[in-house]
Amino acid sequence: MPRIAVIAGDGVGREVIPAAVRVARAAAGDRLEWVEFDWNADYYLRHGAAMPPDGLEQLRRFEAILFGAVGDPRITTHDYAAGLLLKMRFGLDLYANLRPVRPLDDRLCPLRGIRGDEIDFVVLRENTEGPYAGMGGNFKTGRGEEVAVELDINTRLGVERIQRLAFEMARQRSRRRLAMADKSNAMPHAHGLWLRVFRELQPQFPEIEARHYYADALAYQLVRDPRQFDMIVTTNLFGDLLTDLAAALQGGLGMAASGNLHPGRMGLFEPVHGSAPDIAGRNLANPIGAILSAALMLDFLGLDAAARRVEASAAAAVREGVATPDIGGNWGTAECAAWIEKRLRSA
Ligand code: NAD
Ligand code: IPM
Ligand code: MN
Repeated sequence: MPRIAVIAGDGVGREVIPAAVRVARAAAGDRLEWVEFDWNADYYLRHGAAMPPDGLEQLRRFEAILFGAVGDPRITTHDYAAGLLLKMRFGLDLYANLRPVRPLDDRLCPLRGIRGDEIDFVVLRENTEGPYAGMGGNFKTGRGEEVAVELDINTRLGVERIQRLAFEMARQRSRRRLAMADKSNAMPHAHGLWLRVFRELQPQFPEIEARHYYADALAYQLVRDPRQFDMIVTTNLFGDLLTDLAAALQGGLGMAASGNLHPGRMGLFEPVHGSAPDIAGRNLANPIGAILSAALMLDFLGLDAAARRVEASAAAAVREGVATPDIGGNWGTAECAAWIEKRLRSA
């Protein structure tokens, strides 16, 4: 039986993950085994590390991880996120961060004249390189002449595997369109590699309509008319920015789901949003991003019928006004999840 590691993490993660687990359990029945881990800011403050030394070894025994969020106002050092979320992404080599953008309901799309059901694309974000690699340093710290360096790491292996996966995934989609975004005009060495690899792969996928964008122009097009996109592949940092922007197209950060994948090996599923300290602990957080992330996980585990039922029940909630304040309702996190669970059980 597939085993799921559940790490709620911090802030609203502790509210939306229990919500997602209850909905996913209702959909999957007894086909999955769930094991909870208390790796979060409290754990870090007690132990000086976000997970035990053999944490990654423990996680490798699971088929998937359901994660909430990392981030706590009490911790200002950078080693905390690096020692939890980024450690899992890098350590488990989850090189593909899949972030689908598909508004569940028309009303959620903020763009004038564009219907929600006209927007349906996926951002595939490189997840193990770029400036996230943590290679850099500070010199003459605190002095007027301080030097601060963060290296943008791009390897041929890393760039090629994410772009190849994007071409392969684009082939499975009906419109077979792929956009690649970099800043090779300003960063000719690091991002020149992205463009060269893209041009090399293109002839191997003649059925894909492949187009290169500079990332700034892609950001513009995403707001101007997101209907033109089907599949987007980009770097770690640009993927981070573009997917918060894309979250706004589907109703906000509370609605956006993601999966961090190493295809064929394992996946970590999490909402796109963070720990939202401004609303945490008040039953205000929208659980749907986490619930849709659990649906992505069910899909990944081959439980596609269960995944579709979760998505349909979440869409029904939005349609019927069962909504948290971020999308204009007055339902609480727990009540919204309970409604979705009940709907799913009765559907
Ligand atoms: P955030 O995503 O936590 O919040 C941004 C805004 O969106 C806030 O106004 C928040 O209230 C709102 N929001 C987020 N999730 C929501 C939800 N489920 N329902 C309703 N509204 C929601 O980003 P931030 O404020 O920049 O970061 C807070 C902390 O989270 C930081 O420590 C940051 O590093 C961390 N973070 C973690 C992740 C992650 O774990 N994947 C992602 C982003 C940020
Ligand atoms: C995300 C987050 C993370 C990222 C942070 C918490 C390091 O913003 O998952 O989008 O930048 O990848
Ligand atoms: Mn982000």
